[in-house]
Amino acid sequence: MAALQILPRPQAPCSGRSPAPSPASSAATCCTMSRSPSISLKRCSCYRYPSRYSHGIPSDGGIRGKLTSSAVPAASFASPSTTADAPSDAATAPLSTPSVSSEASAEVELMKVTTDSLQYESGYLGGISGKTRPSWGTSWTSSPSSFDRPSAMDYLAHTLTSRVYDVAIESPLQLAPRLSERLGVQFWLKREDLQPVFSFKLRGAYNMMANLPREKLEKGVICSSAGNHAQGVALAAQKLGCNAVIVMPVTTPEIKWKSVEKLGATVVLVGDSYDEAQSHAKKRAKSEGRTFIPPFDNPNVIMGQGTVGMEIIRQLRGPIHAIFVPVGGGLIAGIAAYVKQVRPEVKIIGVEPYDANAMALSLHHGQRVMLEQVGGFADGVAVKVVGEETYRLCRELVDGIVLVSRDAICASIKDMFEEKRSILEPAGALSLAGAEAYCKYYGLKGESVVAITSGANMNFDRLRLVTELADVGRKQEAVLATSMPEEPGSFKRFCQLVGPVNITEFKYRYDASKEKALVLYSVGVHTAAELKSVVGRMGFENFETVDLTNNDLAKDHLRHLVGGRTNVENELLCRFIFPERPGTLMKFLDSFSPRWNISLFHYRSQGEAGANVLVGIQVPGGEMDEFRAIATNLDYDYALEMSNKAYQLLMH
Ligand SMILES: Cc1ncc(COP(=O)(O)O)c(C=O)c1O
Repeated sequence: MAALQILPRPQAPCSGRSPAPSPASSAATCCTMSRSPSISLKRCSCYRYPSRYSHGIPSDGGIRGKLTSSAVPAASFASPSTTADAPSDAATAPLSTPSVSSEASAEVELMKVTTDSLQYESGYLGGISGKTRPSWGTSWTSSPSSFDRPSAMDYLAHTLTSRVYDVAIESPLQLAPRLSERLGVQFWLKREDLQPVFSFKLRGAYNMMANLPREKLEKGVICSSAGNHAQGVALAAQKLGCNAVIVMPVTTPEIKWKSVEKLGATVVLVGDSYDEAQSHAKKRAKSEGRTFIPPFDNPNVIMGQGTVGMEIIRQLRGPIHAIFVPVGGGLIAGIAAYVKQVRPEVKIIGVEPYDANAMALSLHHGQRVMLEQVGGFADGVAVKVVGEETYRLCRELVDGIVLVSRDAICASIKDMFEEKRSILEPAGALSLAGAEAYCKYYGLKGESVVAITSGANMNFDRLRLVTELADVGRKQEAVLATSMPEEPGSFKRFCQLVGPVNITEFKYRYDASKEKALVLYSVGVHTAAELKSVVGRMGFENFETVDLTNNDLAKDHLRHLVGGRTNVENELLCRFIFPERPGTLMKFLDSFSPRWNISLFHYRSQGEAGANVLVGIQVPGGEMDEFRAIATNLDYDYALEMSNKAYQLLMH
């Protein structure tokens, strides 16, 4: 993750529709970026950010990915890119008629960007460019209704009359007393984790399916998902008495596909990735006449999710400063479409992980973009490309996007456990992390904020990592590396210098070839000042100390590898994401070995779909092109880590 610079603490953005402060709003520019969905980013060498912001657009605007998108919308509330049915005569149907759309497609080229190309301090309301925002809702309220783009009034009316309560509950809105006290605000939790399938996703799925005509329902539905959408579609199908096929990647954990099967749906395991599963589902939709139920990019799905916003407004009568929503896209679009019509002064703020910031980047560039890689920790929001309709709504209605770290999400899972004894999945805790960071950043006091606890389908294996990182995320634990003379008495002196601070982890191994020993350890801290004084004390006594608390490489791998510190010739250190499927390791070894020596290998299962693996490979300088070609051909995401400070310190 790119280093972040600290921004000066501004005032909380005022209520109402004035644009949020945005890095890009003051950017100097000499060219216009296209807002059209048929993307073309002009090369723009003079586009600059104020120097206090650490982010920027990629220097190469020319890398492009390809998506297909239909050109001819065929029916009301159909989102061109996500429906996979034959054109129908529904063009003349009333608005509540089910949506179908031609999949006949025009290719839309999307600019590929890296998540690192837009990073700002956690809590800061970014991701909205004043330059690219149409004009704060005016085109939204005045634009006419069309088949695939319902009007503001359509969204309001259909959300109000949605039938989600056949299957969903009106979830409680509960005060979080500890968080409220800690932050000095009224911190409200909208408990969507208490829904029948432990997430809000059933609202949108049911709303779309309940609006399908009988003959469509009889032909059955199909969707692709390895997560909460799958369970939503399965439960909705059970209630409506229709046949459902759920296509999941073969890597889906048994517990997930079994729970979908238990709801009566037919599970088909196809492909290694979500994209492969989706393309299979769309093909089957066409050949079998089934209706494809998209996870977010469809007006009926969005309207169903909008009922969450409707309930919040009904449940919380007084002033509301902001509603924080995990993004995805469908949930925030639905909530914004409703709330901005009835209570426009309430801010709708999206929350994304730093490494899954597709909406922030799309809003920032004024066009949908494709992430080159997306972090999978909060898998519910691991979206590489945001939807066309969700983007259209968010661009006009959302007040900004707050970015949060994986550690902060873990801390919020712990907060929720302490508040309500409930365990949220990472995407489910995302909005808590965003709301907390925002309240601290803008120094909010006394206001009411709402965070949507969107899901509780936690993979149990991940709890180990969550508990490991939660205190770091709360800034109550720091990871430090200290170098000290390799001589008798050093260790005792070190302990004296650490002083009263509690050491929670300690790693050291003797290396006879070194004059200085390096220890890696974690300490429990209560305040930033306490940490600063420990680091300062050490430095003063020539025990040079580096704070690695924000270094994911150190936390995920190197803390478990201390003792492996040697000078290995020509060692490349790479982080690979191994797909969790049989044969992955063999394929990796076939590619690189015995061509080059593998000098290090560290794998730690964290219950994610892709395993995070650290590999050392000895590749002579002249063979780097060959290495890159093989690594690219292997098609596992990877990054070189030799310049990582933690590697230099601990492993070199
Ligand atoms: C728990 C959870 N939160 C948030 C989201 C994001 O939803 P959306 O894509 O509708 O914005 C999802 C999506 O599956 C989810 O499962």
